[in-house]
Amino acid sequence: MIDPSKLPMDCRRVFRDANVVITGGLGFIGSNLALRLLDLGARVILVDSLTPEYGGNLFNVRGFEDRVRVNISDVRDEHSLKYLLQGQDYLFNLAGQTSHMDSMKDPFTDLEINCKAQLSILEVCRRHNPGLKVVYASTRQIYGKPDYLPVDEKHLLRPVDVNGINKMAGEWYHILYNNVYGIRSCALRLTNTYGPRMRVKDARQTFLGIWIRLLLEGKPFEVWEGDQLRDFTFVEDVIDALLLSAGCEDANGNVYNLGGDCTISLKDLAALLVDVNGGGEFRIRPYPADRKPIDIGDYFGDFRRIREDLGWDPKVSLRDGLARTLDYYRERLKHYL
Ligand SMILES: NC(=O)c1ccc[n+]([C@@H]2O[C@H](COP(=O)([O-])OP(=O)(O)OC[C@H]3O[C@@H](n4cnc5c(N)ncnc54)[C@H](O)[C@@H]3O)[C@@H](O)[C@H]2O)c1
Repeated sequence: MIDPSKLPMDCRRVFRDANVVITGGLGFIGSNLALRLLDLGARVILVDSLTPEYGGNLFNVRGFEDRVRVNISDVRDEHSLKYLLQGQDYLFNLAGQTSHMDSMKDPFTDLEINCKAQLSILEVCRRHNPGLKVVYASTRQIYGKPDYLPVDEKHLLRPVDVNGINKMAGEWYHILYNNVYGIRSCALRLTNTYGPRMRVKDARQTFLGIWIRLLLEGKPFEVWEGDQLRDFTFVEDVIDALLLSAGCEDANGNVYNLGGDCTISLKDLAALLVDVNGGGEFRIRPYPADRKPIDIGDYFGDFRRIREDLGWDPKVSLRDGLARTLDYYRERLKHYL
């Protein structure tokens, strides 16, 4: 775990005894965030629907289940949210449908969760807890196919799939409620995030998940094309950014890109993963025709804004992060299948 004293904010002072809700709290990023917040002395409620197609997994809280309150409920249910958000200090709003392909096959579910429910969460805040600070997990997917690299926050938003459009709307509702109603909110535009507790069962959350699963099962994994450039953030670094943006008033009303320590092509990433694992095989194949229309080509982000405003920098190298991720799943893969 990253030493909290290395962050440019005294997280222990900010979060000790704070009342915190994490939507999507049984998912990949939410459960890692919960663990960190508990160690900082916060009281944490996890709200999650545990919809099987998403990344929520009760095993994600194994070992600290007695220290959190888990509420299995859906963010589309505004009555539950009204009860859950009252009296809280911070909301990390992470619940989401994350699959791009699923958003194309079933656009209305994506609309309900990533767009409509976001508005109803903010309405609950406005009516019942206007003092709550909200941090929203947005995505670099909202930029679509980049016009230039690295992509900064001024880049045109031109999503290539339904998920990107709904996440964009979800993000902007947060900024609107900050600007118009004073509900202090900000958004992080996450890039590919990886680490312990990610969904590895399939590629719904990230292609890296299925790569890791197949590698650990001793089977070859597929790399599509392989020359596309990407950046990656280790989950502990994402958590630093979430905590900093929750604790810093300067973040209110802002959107921030995250990034990683390097930019890498997918085929070099595959080779690095195999190397870190100490063996394994992958095959390069053409990009599947059904996915090509929503492919964004190369992407890597410019994250100077969050560095300058909040002092955030990614600390975990891709090699170390992959090693830590593989170590986690070597012991626990069966709980994620
Ligand atoms: N992991 C990434 O690479 C990445 C990249 C960009 C953005 N994000 C965003 O970060 C957030 C967290 O993503 P994650 O990677 O932890 O994914 P995840 O699927 O592990 O977590 C999302 C959680 O939300 C829950 N959820 C979904 N719909 C819900 C609903 N209607 N009500 C209550 N809970 C619901 C799921 O059960 C799941 O546990 C998402 O909003 C996602 O869009 C993630």
